[in-house]
Amino acid sequence: MTKVAIIGGTGLTSIKGLEITGREIVQTPFGEPSGPLVRGNLAGQQVYFLPRHGAAHTIPPHKINYRANIWALKETGVEQVIAVNAVGGIREDMQPGKLIVPDQVIDYTVSRTNTFFEDGLKQVVHIDFTEPFCESLRQNIIQVAESVSIDVIKEGTYAATQGPRLETAAEVNRLENDGCHLVGMTCMPEAALAREQELCYASISVVANLAAGRGEEELTMEKIEKNLNDGMERVRQLLEAVIPSLD
Ligand code: HPA
Repeated sequence: MTKVAIIGGTGLTSIKGLEITGREIVQTPFGEPSGPLVRGNLAGQQVYFLPRHGAAHTIPPHKINYRANIWALKETGVEQVIAVNAVGGIREDMQPGKLIVPDQVIDYTVSRTNTFFEDGLKQVVHIDFTEPFCESLRQNIIQVAESVSIDVIKEGTYAATQGPRLETAAEVNRLENDGCHLVGMTCMPEAALAREQELCYASISVVANLAAGRGEEELTMEKIEKNLNDGMERVRQLLEAVIPSLD
């Protein structure tokens, strides 16, 4: 059975080495996922792939149906989910092109539906989210990266912002004062919903740009996408090495 899913972010709407064997349209009680789930073989393992912004990259972060995406993946029977997220780097070592496996999150998103546990409950549910990412999957990614000499930063606190606009320089200063090291728009509520569904979820975050106010240059989509290309090539290599190591 397919045990692993990859959720692709900006810069990863398809995976080069993925031999596609089918596409599954899944209906969920929460509406439609970002698109059909792509089933295929990557490095000899069956995986599901779902680009969270849609195949043509048209769904902005605040419009993603995170519940439908996680529900659909859960329905396939996968147990582990590797999310790929484009981010801005706040800490000095988080330069464009770097890969990070974050270990913490602060959620600054607003007005996103962020739970499965709200209607028709027999009892109120509060999940434990002390460690927002699945530590065994995180360690797996880190160890495999080391073994194939792909440089990854092993920890970091991900600030999840609402978007779709990028932050102001003052907002980034506040995020840094709060203890955040990288900033992106897609990790929440995705990570929390995955935990609610008891999926083992970890992120490979790719630095697309220095966070607002940290570099000299104006932040444009063109520059962000260009920086991402290089990082995503290494993400693909890392995924191809990690997937066979998961059981
Ligand atoms: N901020 C928020 N999300 C992002 C950024 C950023 O600087 N870069 C890529 N996604």
